[in-house]
Amino acid sequence: MASAPPPGPPLPAAIQAGLIWLDPIRFVDTCHRRYGDVFAIRIPVIGTLVFLANPEHIRMVARGDPAIFHAGEAAAPLAQVVGRHSLLVIDDDKHRRSRSLMLPAFHGDAVRRQIAEMIAITAEEVARWPVGEPFPLYPRMQRLTLEVILRTVIGVHDRHRLAALRAALPPMMEIGSPVELIPPPEALLRFGMWRRRAQRRAAAVELLNDEIHRCRADPQLEQRTDALAMLVRSGSSTASAGEPMPDDELVDQLVTLLLAGHDTTATALSWAFERLTRHPELLARTAHAAADGDEAWLDAVCRESLRIRPVVFEFGRKLTADLQLGGYHLPAGVILAPSINLVQHSSRYYPDPDSFQPQRFLGQRPDPAVWLPFGGGVRRCLGATFAQVEMRTVLREILLRVELAATTAPDEPVRARHVTMVPRQGAVVTVRRRIAAARLATAS
Ligand code: HEM
Repeated sequence: MASAPPPGPPLPAAIQAGLIWLDPIRFVDTCHRRYGDVFAIRIPVIGTLVFLANPEHIRMVARGDPAIFHAGEAAAPLAQVVGRHSLLVIDDDKHRRSRSLMLPAFHGDAVRRQIAEMIAITAEEVARWPVGEPFPLYPRMQRLTLEVILRTVIGVHDRHRLAALRAALPPMMEIGSPVELIPPPEALLRFGMWRRRAQRRAAAVELLNDEIHRCRADPQLEQRTDALAMLVRSGSSTASAGEPMPDDELVDQLVTLLLAGHDTTATALSWAFERLTRHPELLARTAHAAADGDEAWLDAVCRESLRIRPVVFEFGRKLTADLQLGGYHLPAGVILAPSINLVQHSSRYYPDPDSFQPQRFLGQRPDPAVWLPFGGGVRRCLGATFAQVEMRTVLREILLRVELAATTAPDEPVRARHVTMVPRQGAVVTVRRRIAAARLATAS
């Protein structure tokens, strides 16, 4: 018996696009309450988005045949920013091959070799913070996480080249609004915002190409620990890969790592502090954990923060074949949107889901079926280990260096900023005082 399509708002696609554009969180929540765990939203140009809020359905999709669930096709509009070879926008064999070349640089051992650099960068950043006056943390975290990527992923340490990259990369990654990502007719590419985007990308790509050439020619290549060096080495030594990763592909992967790994981690860290400063006892406990080297507590704080304020609300898979799911018929071509946010805020899986309780994760690994900040399956975030090590390290190093004031200010609302969900006021914090170097020395 043929099953029905999933339910969804009976509104014209243009109105649905307007509603999701104005307030994506409220619109998706309302649809979830009204239609249940599988519902469809229609958007002009993009097509039908089917949201999923049942962990079993999500597991089927994330762990299903990657030839049927295309993440690259779902993210295709991003190719204008990250390039057509980017891991984010490719599928099937090409994805498998590129991902396997990139994975070793993001394994635990490789990431642990970057901790000293992360600590040094955090110390430099915190030294610039004002004492006694409120400031938004988010731009500072963006600067910090960009620096981490530049030095540990691209392996740049020269002062002048770092300055040039710091200036050229953020404008290239600025997406503005999702509307800008709708591919325009070819003739328009030479005008307006599309022309400006192409110019910004060309400027950044030139600098990244220069880094790739320097890396290939570096006599210290074998000793280097950054991801670019590992990619260049693995590309030239992997027999199964045949040839080294060509430069145009390498450059797209570097842009991908910058885009996927910089603002996401900055947002996650900003939320962690936004939550902690509104919970004085947890803030004090976390400062003690930093001083005592209690990594389990720091981990629990990061995990709970990523649960209650996921940076990315859903991930995407475009169906290449018809599918029956949850009693509904989903035709090829629809985009499935497993909702990280709906699952992680459901009282079915988390008692008192709106309350910030790091102790939920103390001493236990999160259940991967219902803790999804990094997506899942063969497309799970390549930098998940890197991001968690970076979050824990930065959290600890900040709390070792400054005492932050708790606040009674209302919770900062969640604001959609293209694919990430950021604190609306930028996570405003106040440093009460700097901590004496003596205590720092004791902790390290
Ligand atoms: C807290 C920080 C981060 C969050 C919340 C996050 C979240 C995500 C999510 C939800 C996905 C999609 C997963 C899926 O479709 O199943 C993803 C993919 C990806 N992330 Fe992250 N990410 C973070 C940090 C990073 C970092 C630090 C890097 C690298 C330096 C990175 C690199 C990537 C890449 C390359 C992909 C595409 C993987 C593929 O398609 O095979 N991310 N991330």
